Amino acid sequence: MSTPVMRPEIVEYYTDRYDESARLTVSQHGRLEFERTRELLLRHLPPAPAKVLDVGGGPGVYAEWMAAAGYEVTLLDPVPLHREQAAARGGFAVRDGDARALAEHDDDSYDAVLLLGPLYHLVERTERVQAIAEARRVARPGALVAAAAISRHAPLMDTAAKGVLDERIDLVLRQIDATGINDPTTGFTIAFFHTVDELRDEFAAAGFEPGDGRVAATVYGIEGPVWPLARAGLTAEREDLFACVMRAARHAETDPALLAASSHLLAVAHK
Ligand SMILES: C[S@@+](CC[C@H](N)C(=O)[O-])C[C@H]1O[C@@H](n2cnc3c(N)ncnc32)[C@H](O)[C@@H]1O
Repeated sequence: MSTPVMRPEIVEYYTDRYDESARLTVSQHGRLEFERTRELLLRHLPPAPAKVLDVGGGPGVYAEWMAAAGYEVTLLDPVPLHREQAAARGGFAVRDGDARALAEHDDDSYDAVLLLGPLYHLVERTERVQAIAEARRVARPGALVAAAAISRHAPLMDTAAKGVLDERIDLVLRQIDATGINDPTTGFTIAFFHTVDELRDEFAAAGFEPGDGRVAATVYGIEGPVWPLARAGLTAEREDLFACVMRAARHAETDPALLAASSHLLAVAHK
């Protein structure tokens, strides 16, 4: 397999323009994403100690949490700054790596493989399927493979909740609705936003067989249908409202009619 090349715009975005290390802790919607993702992972991770590969683990917020819970974590990330930040947290191994080619990792060698971010930045379907197939290859038989995606409709709700949905952005959003591909002039970098069906189909194309529910992967809505309240900051200093947003997310987490209303989706499958 040839070595994949990282798009320089993505490295530049995370190095010079965006502080990924603070994303999950400084804002209300970051906190919502972090709390809900952890509760979904806890339901599916094997008991510690177990070997976890955190592909695209960024500055290591999830890796630190898993290591503290007793997991043996290896984090891979292609952005040097993220690897430095992750290494500074300590408690887990940090390596350079690209989700599309996990060449230094053996077949059947991890109890869980996480892709909490790489699929956002792989705009070609073949690359995303390759990343999921690589995660499946290095997972042991029966192991968990979990991948996060950004919902196709998140940009619409996000810009509206931020109060910046004007005519120019409306045009950008129409382009995203049609292709799933982000226009980097919006501020975010090169990115792809999934429909629920696309995410499931990519797991099937990567070799996951339909399970009891006759789908290759179970897809959960992470933040639920009322996350824009958190995005607008309305849950700050309103723990009762934050608790309601969390409860709504749990209530709707597998409702087919509401899944796509979450900002992020989590696909979960077993090899
Ligand atoms: C939004 S961040 C998420 C970081 C972390 N997983 C989290 O959820 O907090 C996306 C991460 O994916 C990484 N990434 C982008 N393209 C990748 C690729 N082809 N392979 C592996 N990681 C990639 C980025 O460097 C970045 O750290």
